[in-house]
Amino acid sequence: MLNFFYRVKNHCFSKVEKMVSSLLKRKPSWKHIKQYNHAEAYPDRYRNIMIALKKDFFPVLKNKENAEVLDLGCANGWFDFEICPYVKKIDAYDLSPHLIKTAKRQSKEKGIQNISFFTQDIASISIKKEYDAVLCMGLFTCIVDEVVFLSTLKKVHSCLRAGGIYFCKDSLNKNITSKRDQGGYFHIYRKESEYVKAIEMVGFELLFMRQLSDTIFEQGMFSGSYVFRKI
Ligand SMILES: C[S@@+](CC[C@H](N)C(=O)[O-])C[C@H]1O[C@@H](n2cnc3c(N)ncnc32)[C@H](O)[C@@H]1O
Repeated sequence: MLNFFYRVKNHCFSKVEKMVSSLLKRKPSWKHIKQYNHAEAYPDRYRNIMIALKKDFFPVLKNKENAEVLDLGCANGWFDFEICPYVKKIDAYDLSPHLIKTAKRQSKEKGIQNISFFTQDIASISIKKEYDAVLCMGLFTCIVDEVVFLSTLKKVHSCLRAGGIYFCKDSLNKNITSKRDQGGYFHIYRKESEYVKAIEMVGFELLFMRQLSDTIFEQGMFSGSYVFRKI
């Protein structure tokens, strides 16, 4: 009964959002998102990603204090603010100009000197520098196109120095790959085994994995973090 209520409620919200978007003559997408608070929206995932950062990522990041880090899909930069005291430099990219504006403002307010934020679609990004670590935190949940998913993974691999670390988190599915209409654009929940295999095939070895959501939802959906090393 409750499930039925939520399905009807989500259906109605999605219809209203589509109508508003078509009246405003724009397709809703991450590009238009202005506000984002990960810790508030997902307290369990926030708690567990902070554990993953300390237990899974930092211990395998060699020469941490001199490390250069690339973050793709950084949103308002909240995760970069957690990492920047411990590394040399972070370059962070996101599709949303609004979120990047917030990231830049907060960075200035906090007096942070070692993060550069850029507005950029990763589908057309060309990465010129080399990095010790690349982060894609939730990015690939938004990248439905398999060609863009695989070509971005290849770019991530080729911009990493030998033995570099790829740290990612995504919403996934234990059993199948499924998509969800977010009201005009889609999120993809890749089947976990295929997601990990795709990353390994590009030339990475899996070091750690961790469930971030406290629950595996009925349909097999959950959030997980993964730390890989370039081979
Ligand atoms: C699920 S959010 C995760 C944000 C943040 N990294 C975190 O862990 O909370 C995904 C982020 O990827 C960005 N994104 C989605 N598609 C993108 C694209 N094509 N190019 C660059 N960023 C993109 C969105 O704007 C959004 O900020």
